[in-house]
Amino acid sequence: MSDSNNKKVLVSGIKPTGRLHFGNYFGAMKQNIDLSNSGEYESYVFIADYHALTTVRNGDELRRQTIEAVASYVACGLDLDKVILFKQSDVQEVTELTWIFNNLVTVPFMMRAHSFKDKEAKNEDVNVGLFDYPVLMASDILIYGADIVPVGADQKQHVEYTRDIAGYYNRAYSVEEFKLPKDLILEAVGTIPGIDGQKMSKSYNNHIELFCSDEDLKKRVMSIVTDSASPEDKKNPDENNIYKIHKLFLNKEEDEVLRGKFLNGGYSYKEAKEDLLDTINKWRSNKKPLYDEIVDNQEKIFSILNKNGEVAKEKAKQKMLKIRKTVGLSIN
Ligand code: ADP
Ligand code: TRP
Repeated sequence: MSDSNNKKVLVSGIKPTGRLHFGNYFGAMKQNIDLSNSGEYESYVFIADYHALTTVRNGDELRRQTIEAVASYVACGLDLDKVILFKQSDVQEVTELTWIFNNLVTVPFMMRAHSFKDKEAKNEDVNVGLFDYPVLMASDILIYGADIVPVGADQKQHVEYTRDIAGYYNRAYSVEEFKLPKDLILEAVGTIPGIDGQKMSKSYNNHIELFCSDEDLKKRVMSIVTDSASPEDKKNPDENNIYKIHKLFLNKEEDEVLRGKFLNGGYSYKEAKEDLLDTINKWRSNKKPLYDEIVDNQEKIFSILNKNGEVAKEKAKQKMLKIRKTVGLSIN
């Protein structure tokens, strides 16, 4: 990809903690793909395997999920000529920067992070990696000099932490090293519901995987929870899970048509689910074969990751040379 210096820098990551689902796709991946493919950015998109270590305890599982995440991005159309798609841990410099930043943040500041507070509220054990999650994320973002960070709404606070940490560093060392990056959140997309109407999430097992088998897809779609309205009843699309998922795939005109079907009555839930299944199958028609092919051709994935990992690492190394000098770690 061209490394034109006047392009704004985009940085985004996704954790390889399970198979990706439509909540991930519409909430985070699609916007990364669209923005990267526009060619308007110097774009760094990575698989956040260091972050995944906060929860994953099995090396083979982490490797498999990393490979599947890369294959998912490529199958969903990320243009590899326009983006540096890499593995977070191929740039070990981010952990060094994390250590430097750790000394600039206080424990009370870190205790305000949702990622920490949510676990605490549930009385779950919080490991130090999880506690430090926002600092590692700030390092990811700042080491490549990000201008924009496209993320799902739940990551907004992490980008605020990043801006704060950039400011702490700049002030502590009286430098203008880090720009303050901006989040880019698709407010219109909001939270995507799962088949039970709660937020789609693999932790609730209410998700629809992008590339599950045809049988699983059908099973999931046909079990979307609905109320007991009869086929003839007029239905409010905005309170309907089938509609809320289906509309994500549609353009404005198609959306109008679908809304009409719900509003006019005579559209049974069975029919609505079959239509949604049809739409998802159309979406998958060219992507699923590509995904299956890439997942089976791991050499291709290794070569993508190795090549891009080096490019990202070079950029990070340059930044760290300056930082090591500023903080006094390099002595000549
Ligand atoms: P999960 O909840 O399945 O564990 P993650 O937390 O790993 O998913 O999600 C990764 C990213 O995908 C999130 O940061 C968020 O941006 C996006 N995302 C996940 N689920 C949804 C959803 N239901 N609606 C909108 N965005 C989502
Ligand atoms: N924390 C993000 C998530 O759970 C993943 C992530 C890690 C990320 N580093 C990042 C996102 C840097 C954007 C920029 O979705």
